[in-house]
Amino acid sequence: MEEKRDHWSAEAYSASASFVPKLTETVLQYLSPQQHDKVLDVGCGDGKFTSKYVCRVASVLGIDSSPAMIEAAKRDFGADQTEFRVVDCRYLDREDIVNGTWDKVVSNAALHWILTDSTTRVSVLKAIFDSLRPGGAFVFEMGGHGNVPEVHTALLATLVHHGLSIEGAREASPWFFPSESWMRETLESIGFIVERLEVEYRPTRLTVGADGGIEGWVKLMGAPMLEALDPARREDAARWACALLETIITKEDGSRWLGYVRLRGVAMKPQL
Ligand SMILES: C[S@@+](CC[C@H](N)C(=O)[O-])C[C@H]1O[C@@H](n2cnc3c(N)ncnc32)[C@H](O)[C@@H]1O
Repeated sequence: MEEKRDHWSAEAYSASASFVPKLTETVLQYLSPQQHDKVLDVGCGDGKFTSKYVCRVASVLGIDSSPAMIEAAKRDFGADQTEFRVVDCRYLDREDIVNGTWDKVVSNAALHWILTDSTTRVSVLKAIFDSLRPGGAFVFEMGGHGNVPEVHTALLATLVHHGLSIEGAREASPWFFPSESWMRETLESIGFIVERLEVEYRPTRLTVGADGGIEGWVKLMGAPMLEALDPARREDAARWACALLETIITKEDGSRWLGYVRLRGVAMKPQL
């Protein structure tokens, strides 16, 4: 089992990507929280997304591989009916929470990180299926094919400019942005009934202010790519990536935007 480095920080996440848990109206509508629901939140992060529906369900277990994010979630949103736990979801199939009792499994903006490891990709989705009770729902939103193409390309170019091969740069990319057809076929092959699956092109305005903006985004989300370089070169590489992006992402009014593509769905475990 490969150890995971924790490059997350709740403070950096708030500064550079506070829009992620905010832009969740549709996925929350699909989750359709009910008072009796026992919910597993996969890749819950700092708990801000979880906090949006927790008071409308019976209980939630939020799991995330980042000790820093889980610590923040416990601090800010810990409650009787809410538990947060550090779990590397690449190996979810080894956890005793995979017990066929959850009414709903929900995941926002986390599966494109969790499914990056191609060796565990299908077993993660199978473990989600096995976690659910018969008739239970898996509701998710994640990066879809072509997500944030400008910043992804800039980061690849930056690594190549700083001496990596293009294969090495691709290898360092921490994301798997699947197409709608990959997701449908994989979910169906596991036994899910896909009730909804949709792609939304959603240009998203970056935050402004200290530690935010494109600099904050590149340093937090792009950390696994920058870490492929010698520590002494990372600061320069982050600046280089931002300089490359400058005119591409900036509108006349000075606001900066990334081309987010969301893949969103609801998949049901059949009734017995
Ligand atoms: C963009 S954040 C989303 C957090 C939250 N769901 C939200 O909507 O704000 C992505 C989260 O995925 C988590 N993550 C990445 N790889 C993971 C893994 N292998 N297992 C569990 N969580 C993982 C990160 O730690 C991070 O908290």
